[in-house]
Amino acid sequence: MRRIAVLTSGGDAPGMNAAIRAVVRKGLNAGLCIIGVRRGYAGLVADDMVGLDAGSVADIIHRGGTVLRTARSQEFMTDDGFNKALAALSARNIDGLVVIGGDGSFRGAQKLYEHGVLTVGIPGTIDNDIPAFEETIGFDTAVNTAVQAIDRIRDTATSHERTFIIEVMGRGAGHIALEAGLAAGAESIIVPEERLEWQEVCDRIKRGHLRGKLHTIIVVCEGAGKGFEVGDFVAGCTGFDTRVTVLGHVQRGGTPTARDRVIASKLGALAVDLLVAGQGGVVVGIKNGQAISLPINEALRSVPSFDRDAYKLAAILAQ
Ligand code: F6P
Repeated sequence: MRRIAVLTSGGDAPGMNAAIRAVVRKGLNAGLCIIGVRRGYAGLVADDMVGLDAGSVADIIHRGGTVLRTARSQEFMTDDGFNKALAALSARNIDGLVVIGGDGSFRGAQKLYEHGVLTVGIPGTIDNDIPAFEETIGFDTAVNTAVQAIDRIRDTATSHERTFIIEVMGRGAGHIALEAGLAAGAESIIVPEERLEWQEVCDRIKRGHLRGKLHTIIVVCEGAGKGFEVGDFVAGCTGFDTRVTVLGHVQRGGTPTARDRVIASKLGALAVDLLVAGQGGVVVGIKNGQAISLPINEALRSVPSFDRDAYKLAAILAQ
């Protein structure tokens, strides 16, 4: 193992830069030459790469986004694009590739592995939707960003005695909604994993008003319904003053939390160790607090999980 490359792919996530830094510095420490691929798989196809030394990752550990930039490449999915990517890796004598991204990015890493490239995936997505592991890089920051926003909304909600519907990201995974909703004391949390009738959401709001609540916070995962549709329904059935906030991409940016930086640092270092040991076709992640690795296919096959106990607890505590 002499030359390895690193790329970030799919939606960016706070902490990706800390992972890039860890791959570069741990790789240099192991005597490797490190290449950065710009714009994810699109950069592999276009042979858009740059050598990375220790200084090139200085001053990025605290920065959101990804200095390598990222993309969702359609061309890489085609046979032509894939072959161009393989050719670029081979022409540069790159033995191993670290892919920081989500499940779609790992499918690409698996395909490269099946064509002879040693690949290691690092889960970087705010959605936390890699069920084989406890936490993806970026999730903790996104949850904290959402909680800060909801706390601010709560101030104005109380002042005006309003109901607020707050739509958060997560695609088909309700983890951001659950953790942000529990941490911010939301009265109802609407997620794809649990059935909650919107009528029940309204009934809870009315019960809350009867016992003197000045406001209501409803958190909805984007994959379970549109915030504005929930807002129209709730306003119609309760008659209360209702507003909707879609948090959107604000959840994807910002300074990564200490936790995301620590996870990113450990996973980046483990990815390099695995490549040095000649292992590929694997993804690293945090399980039981430890950095571990699994075959990519096994990680992708894991059944989606959801913390139902925390979900029930959130409803009890918000009564
Ligand atoms: O996968 C991360 C994520 O932020 C999802 O939560 C969201 O649905 C999606 O990406 C948004 O994608 P885009 O940046 O392409 O709008």
